[in-house]
Amino acid sequence: MRLVVFGAGYVGLVTGTGMSDLGHEVLLFDIDPAKIAMLQDGRIPIYEPGLADLVHRNQRNGRLSFATSIPESFGDADAYFIAVGTPPGPDGAADLSAVMAVADTIAKTAKAGAVVVVKSTVPVGTCDAVQARLAKAAVPLEVVSNPEFLKEGDAVSDFFKPERVVIGARSDEARQLLRELYAPLQLSGERLVVTDPRSSELIKYASNTMLAIRISFMNELSRLCHTTGADIHSVRLGVGADSRIGKKFLYAGPGYGGSCFPKDVQALMALGREHGVPMRVAEAAHAANEEQAVFLAQLVEKSLGGVTGKQVTLWGLAFKPETDDIRESPAVKLANVLLARGARVVGHDPEAGPNFAKHFGDAVKVTERDYDALDGSSALVLLTEWRSYRAPNFAEIRRRLQAAADGSPPVLVDARNIWRPNEVVRAGLRYQGIGVSLNRVADRPSQR
Ligand SMILES: NC(=O)c1ccc[n+]([C@@H]2O[C@H](COP(=O)([O-])OP(=O)(O)OC[C@H]3O[C@@H](n4cnc5c(N)ncnc54)[C@H](O)[C@@H]3O)[C@@H](O)[C@H]2O)c1
Repeated sequence: MRLVVFGAGYVGLVTGTGMSDLGHEVLLFDIDPAKIAMLQDGRIPIYEPGLADLVHRNQRNGRLSFATSIPESFGDADAYFIAVGTPPGPDGAADLSAVMAVADTIAKTAKAGAVVVVKSTVPVGTCDAVQARLAKAAVPLEVVSNPEFLKEGDAVSDFFKPERVVIGARSDEARQLLRELYAPLQLSGERLVVTDPRSSELIKYASNTMLAIRISFMNELSRLCHTTGADIHSVRLGVGADSRIGKKFLYAGPGYGGSCFPKDVQALMALGREHGVPMRVAEAAHAANEEQAVFLAQLVEKSLGGVTGKQVTLWGLAFKPETDDIRESPAVKLANVLLARGARVVGHDPEAGPNFAKHFGDAVKVTERDYDALDGSSALVLLTEWRSYRAPNFAEIRRRLQAAADGSPPVLVDARNIWRPNEVVRAGLRYQGIGVSLNRVADRPSQR
């Protein structure tokens, strides 16, 4: 098939490249000329494992191209994918201006009946609104909801081995076209959920909010652990042993971040308000997440006896491992608080350093090497559990960090609970985890 994908970001680039690898002819369209020039040049604007090789292979075989305008030859494409951003507006509701701008472009360009596939995360009713907008097109076009569930850091593998593909369509023809597109990814068993567009749109928000709720609940419990002396590690193991609950997404930490959870939870809250059905559980998850960021900043401050005039090192600047995405990352939130309190911030990340440096400019320092970020700091805060941080040389960390003025050892704030506290303490450092009871941590293994 001939496909046009609008938006060459995390979702569009992975989807378009994946579709070209399955044998389709794909044009990736973006309004950002710098991004398109990079891609045409074979440079990948984001870090996503496995993506560069895939892009290069399909560029070489001529099935994948990039443009800032739609060439005549793609006027009769079989499907147009909308994968542009839907950032939060001032009230948290999704800003649909990019989606609607793309709809207008499609209406002007399409020369034959085609399916318009909305991959962007959009509020219930958006596909219907896009359908109405396309009424001015010269040819009939049907809008289908097909939300994206890829995980940054695993996006390529998620594309080729999706746990589920949700299709929200009104006509059999559109459903059939989507079935055909995704058939090569269903060889080991069908994982399609076929429904109407409105249910499909809600499935996406419900899924992200459900995950955010689990994280927020564990984070609230971790705060309760701090005051009661319980240990979040044991609580997680005990709770997760119930197969109805399951083990995943039960890790306490610095709070959820990224380009999706914070925005999608707030968009669902806004949708509920709009329809007079308050989303109380989502509201609580959002509030608990905000509180966790405050709690973490207080933990760092308390461990150091105040941060003013001190230097703090952050390891892990991306919102999670294996991505360079710093949108809503806990590191950005913590750095903002530390800077406001008069601390100096030095950061390191295996991939997200340049994005963090660009975001903060001269206000922070970012180092190429992890240990170089420690020199002169009084504390190290671990915010993202990259593999390369999992088994560090604690003696070297101790050598690089500075003891407090009263002689107490430098502190490691392990906001992902990945280190063994006894190892940290043996190296002459203080250990502070999230929801771990210090009088019980001596010999327990790390959380992950
Ligand atoms: N990133 C994720 O992990 C993820 C996962 C699932 C769903 N989503 C959803 O997918 C959508 C895209 O997310 P993303 O992370 O890929 O965003 P992104 O910010 O990485 O990319 C969006 C791209 O769209 C381009 N764009 C904006 N307006 C355009 C227009 N009118 N025409 C063409 N291109 C335009 C931008 O230049 C940018 O390159 C969002 O709705 C998001 O919620 C994201």
